Amino acid sequence: MRVLPHIFANNRAWAERIEAERPGFFQTLAQQQNPKLLWIGCADSRVPATEIVDMMPGEIFVHRNVANLVVHTDLNCLSVMQFAVDVLQVEHVIVCGHYGCGGVRAALQQSRLGLIDNWLRHIQDVAEKHAHRLSILEDVELRTAKLCELNIIEQAFNVCQTTIVQDAWSRGQMLTVHGWVYDIHDGLLQDLGFCASAQDDVHTVYAASLAAH
Ligand code: CO
Repeated sequence: MRVLPHIFANNRAWAERIEAERPGFFQTLAQQQNPKLLWIGCADSRVPATEIVDMMPGEIFVHRNVANLVVHTDLNCLSVMQFAVDVLQVEHVIVCGHYGCGGVRAALQQSRLGLIDNWLRHIQDVAEKHAHRLSILEDVELRTAKLCELNIIEQAFNVCQTTIVQDAWSRGQMLTVHGWVYDIHDGLLQDLGFCASAQDDVHTVYAASLAAH
């Protein structure tokens, strides 16, 4: 179906419903966006940022990629972060991964899927860094879940190490970096205990959240 009419029909019904519930919503939002949160999440279709926290368009600035990775040379992710932190002045950066992440699973199984293997290599690096924590788990599902958590903690740590966040903290900007995990089995979010608001916090927070998982 070349023109996907049901999607346009859904869109019209949605826009009418929102406008009926909140008259002027789109007009107000068209003037400017003022989100307080930057969400760095997985591209997985089951983890849509605004829906799972029941927030509206305009409330979360979003970057998603496979397995919610924050790679120091990824200009796409870094540009989103820089714009969100410097221009939009978001107050929170949330790295939100999820259990059952296909990217994490593929990395752990060392599957060969094509170009994406090079992207997933970053998760294999995380797995090698924490090889002992993973090797004590015999069940592959438990090991995958653990690597999902470790990956989130490592990516939240990477956010803290960017020049963007470092510069924001050094000029006294209020900014907190979080690591959360979402469970696709029950729709619930869990805080992994990674919560850093200053450069001095980062290594302590990183060590504490690793120790707790
Ligand atoms: Co995923």
